[in-house]
Amino acid sequence: MSLLQVEGLTKRFAGLTAVDDINIELGEREFLGVVGPNGAGKTTLFSIISGQLAPSEGRIVFDGVDITGWPADKVARAGLVRTFQLMRPFESMSVLDNVAIASHRLHRSRRDARRHALEVIERVQLERYVHAMSGSLPTAGLKRLELARALALEPKLLLLDEVLAGLVPAERAPMIELLRGLHADGLPVMFIEHIMAAVLALSERLLVMHEGAQLAFGDPHEVTRDKVVVEAYLGEDYA
Ligand SMILES: Nc1ncnc2c1ncn2[C@@H]1O[C@H](COP(=O)(O)OP(=O)(O)OP(=O)(O)O)[C@@H](O)[C@H]1O
Ligand SMILES: [Mg+2]
Repeated sequence: MSLLQVEGLTKRFAGLTAVDDINIELGEREFLGVVGPNGAGKTTLFSIISGQLAPSEGRIVFDGVDITGWPADKVARAGLVRTFQLMRPFESMSVLDNVAIASHRLHRSRRDARRHALEVIERVQLERYVHAMSGSLPTAGLKRLELARALALEPKLLLLDEVLAGLVPAERAPMIELLRGLHADGLPVMFIEHIMAAVLALSERLLVMHEGAQLAFGDPHEVTRDKVVVEAYLGEDYA
């Protein structure tokens, strides 16, 4: 059974095809990595799938339902949730309040929303910042907050856009472990990332994009040995 089917997805901006005929089938428990050079169209692909942008062409079927053209909030309510490359929490609000706003979408009472938000904050190990102003968090904390706000919507599929970017190497390993744990608990993930060690540590399959198009798709270790992928993205020094 596939959870997500993307067929012929294309997005044209004036004079530029940012996403060019992408086809994906994502399994119900899958962790799919998405890589490619800057400007390859990865974020645009996520924006279309999650409803922030309408596609120029193509179809998106999620959990058996055609969601093509649905607005982002409706897509999120259906269980397809993304994080943003640039984090944008409400900076003058606490971590708890930021997450509780997201929890409130599913939990009517303020008390239930806060209780649920606390569970999510614990899941991403942000407990010690629970009452801190979000604007005061270090990058690693902001990344976890962005993840918490997405998890608070109880996704059936989570799209992560560079959640490791800006982290120093010592901060990456615990984040990778956290993502591995979420996936092990049953959460399917699509994961845009430039750090190949992390991509290979987590991904069951890999989509390589280049100039909007699908350069390769399949087993991560096979894909990263593909001559075309090495030439277009990884570089000859990649071993
Ligand atoms: N709203 C827009 N209007 C016009 N062009 C856009 C728009 N959004 C993105 N683009 C262009 O589409 C292309 C793909 O951009 P996108 O942000 O999807 O790349 P990316 O693979 O996520 O890159 P990065 O790794 O740097 O985040 C780029 O050339 C970008 O300039
Ligand atoms: Mg991007």
